Amino acid sequence: MWDKLTEIQAKAEEAAASCQDLASLTEIKVAYLGKKGEITQISKMMGKVSPEERPRLGQAVNQAKQKVEAAIQRRMDELKEAALQQSLAEETADVTLPGTVFPAGSLHILTIVRREIEDIFTGMGYTIMEGSQVETDYYNFEALNIPKDHPARDMQDSFYFSGNLLLRTHTSPAQAHAMEQMQGQYPVKIIAPGVVYRRDDDATHSPMFHQVEGLLLDEHVTMGDLKGTLRAFAQQMFGAERQIRLRPSFFPFTEPSAEVDVSCFACGGAGCRLCKGSGWIEILGSGMVHPHVLEMSGYDPQKLTGFAFGMGVERIAMLKYGITDMRLLFDNDVRFLSGFGRA
Ligand code: DAH
Repeated sequence: MWDKLTEIQAKAEEAAASCQDLASLTEIKVAYLGKKGEITQISKMMGKVSPEERPRLGQAVNQAKQKVEAAIQRRMDELKEAALQQSLAEETADVTLPGTVFPAGSLHILTIVRREIEDIFTGMGYTIMEGSQVETDYYNFEALNIPKDHPARDMQDSFYFSGNLLLRTHTSPAQAHAMEQMQGQYPVKIIAPGVVYRRDDDATHSPMFHQVEGLLLDEHVTMGDLKGTLRAFAQQMFGAERQIRLRPSFFPFTEPSAEVDVSCFACGGAGCRLCKGSGWIEILGSGMVHPHVLEMSGYDPQKLTGFAFGMGVERIAMLKYGITDMRLLFDNDVRFLSGFGRA
């Protein structure tokens, strides 16, 4: 039995050492050390030797087991190492190959333009304020001097919820909110960018669009301040050469009111298709805040004056980038959207 054990151990060690792959190594392990393995069989014969010999045989069997296990483990390490070396040799990486390029997103053109507008006004000391898209009738109309039966309501047909809630038709409600928040303190100097809604839908109108409102309220604010501010804006947005002109207009919440035109940046004012031959392009509405609007929000029109303006972000973007159909801005076609850089 001793000889047999020595013989089995040698055979197992030899088999392990010469084994060429991990699968057969596992088979070798089972064949010698498994439940019915050859070494296991010997330990089962323990009962057949004399009690004196038993401990020695037990020890010898354990030693043989450990040796064979070690031989198998050694071979396993060798085979794994060889496999690793081989795959390293085969999988050479060419670091000069171009990598996989994942398409990087870019900002939406409206976000780019809104941020440009915000940067220009924050550069002039304005604070950015956010309003809510769902408004009450009071803020959207009444506080802006547009009472229930005012004809100006017809031009801003909205989407109504029950009661007196609606989707705001312009960002002008931010004027009343800003004044209320300031509780009589001044100056009030804010811009309020945001989404607005109207029941309009064609190539130049979308039922959902964006505006930026502006409000400056202080002592001695004049229309000259309004003009200077908007000219600075137009020159930063459309080019240092730009001039602006104010045309008399009407808004219930400003008096006097003016539409603001910028000298055409396509032809410089000579007249072309973009400006329809006039040399001027309308960019926004503005005016001096109506005394009644100031009073309704707790400010004294005898003491303070202010100007306000409101512009459409889509309109500015379309003019600046020569986009002729507003719907392109919302179709989400990446071929269009990716044309405006990364910003
Ligand atoms: N809220 C006006 C509109 O949506 C735009 C506007 C005009 C805003 C004159 C103003 C303003 O603040 O003074 O048509």
